[in-house]
Amino acid sequence: MARIIDRTVLIVGASSGIGAEVARRLAPGGNRLVLTARRAPELAAVAQEVRAAGSDCLDIAADALDPQAAADVVAAAVTEYGSVDVALLNAGQGPDMSMDQVSVADVSRIMALNYDVVVNYLVPLIARMGSQRDGGLIAHTNSLAGLMGLPRQGPYSAAKSAARTLVDSARVELAPRGIRFTSIHPGFVATDRISGDGLPKPFQISQEQAARHVVRALEREPAQAYFPWPTAALVRTLRALPTPLSSAVLRRLAGG
Ligand SMILES: NC(=O)c1ccc[n+]([C@@H]2O[C@H](COP(=O)([O-])OP(=O)(O)OC[C@H]3O[C@@H](n4cnc5c(N)ncnc54)[C@H](OP(=O)(O)O)[C@@H]3O)[C@@H](O)[C@H]2O)c1
Repeated sequence: MARIIDRTVLIVGASSGIGAEVARRLAPGGNRLVLTARRAPELAAVAQEVRAAGSDCLDIAADALDPQAAADVVAAAVTEYGSVDVALLNAGQGPDMSMDQVSVADVSRIMALNYDVVVNYLVPLIARMGSQRDGGLIAHTNSLAGLMGLPRQGPYSAAKSAARTLVDSARVELAPRGIRFTSIHPGFVATDRISGDGLPKPFQISQEQAARHVVRALEREPAQAYFPWPTAALVRTLRALPTPLSSAVLRRLAGG
């Protein structure tokens, strides 16, 4: 069982994949979970599992692209449970996209789906946690793809990279007020959403394994968490190589 017990935890993007699995792992801890995503039936099904496993749960269907809807979710969590102790900003997606085929609108859409959804929760959460005696933890599900521009993942890599930078600034500024920030960088995770996208997925892990890593990061609160180690080591090595060499390796890995 996770060591997070008797806490109010907001998970944005909890209707499927990693977010839903994290909710299931936190459920036996007698927590108060606030789950949100757009698909109400899927979200309600996860909430039902959480309640059955021993945590209180509020499920709210809301689009994280809407700043007012995000602020309303944070307000509803506080009204229901009095605080938000931990927030996992997990909404995001990264479809296969080659740079010679994307439109300008595609790039903007991926930026919104991976960056705006973070900003829309970050701002009201900082306002709320700043007034809480113990501050709070804001974690973001970033990606190892946010550490470098991967082929066929350009708009996604760029959006995740921007989110990491924003979170890094917030961490430095807000430490004195007790607000902590963790960026979590998974490698490939076998969730339904990406199973048919045609991208090669070296060292892919299951969503259960990914959720274990995420919960450990929520417990230990490192500034950055990277997993699984083979993919993290590969990315670190590629970043250390001269650009012509790393580009050649990346082209090969992407099947180009
Ligand atoms: N799978 C991987 O290989 C992998 C690797 C590295 C990082 N990640 C990151 O991990 C996170 C979770 O992804 P996943 O693989 O678990 O995929 P997923 O099953 O598609 O989970 C994404 C979650 O975010 C929600 N979401 C998406 N857009 C939203 C919006 N506008 N408003 C509210 N909720 C929204 C989705 O629910 P609704 O559709 O119901 O709104 C869903 O609950 C993402 O940030 C992704 O970038 C994934």
